[in-house]
Amino acid sequence: MLATEILTQQHHEALDLIAELQDASGTATTSYDSTFKKLEDALLLHMREEEEIYYPALAKYDEFSDLLSYSIPEHEAVRQYLAQLEPLSPSDDSFQDVLADMRAAIEDHADNEEDDVFPKSIEVLGEDRIEELGDEIENMKNAVNKRKTATP
Ligand SMILES: [Fe+2]
Ligand SMILES: [Fe+2]
Repeated sequence: MLATEILTQQHHEALDLIAELQDASGTATTSYDSTFKKLEDALLLHMREEEEIYYPALAKYDEFSDLLSYSIPEHEAVRQYLAQLEPLSPSDDSFQDVLADMRAAIEDHADNEEDDVFPKSIEVLGEDRIEELGDEIENMKNAVNKRKTATP
């Protein structure tokens, strides 16, 4: 599978989990805590896959010389939102306010990747290379999941 397809899927999965958590407003149930944990794990892994595999492969090319300078700070902002959300409960207003801000930031960032960076990367690096990067991402994902099941 193309790296860009995997990463696009992950954007949608994250936004679906965010929508679920937005329904949690005012309803204190522990199942939403596990939904948040799932979202946090998914976003952190997604950003690692991009930062350690996908972005470095692109950054070698002139067409992507400014990629890291705006993408990494945007990821950093998402990590800060996650840290703010961590001690809060999904039923709290404060959680929902931060979540709404994080959702907007992720939507902007994901739109830019899906509309601009992803198609351009296929053009510049070629489909075969983007497919290889997809394999590397799958390997990282599998290694992380294996570790997770080993340490409950
Ligand atoms: Fe990204
Ligand atoms: Fe992304």
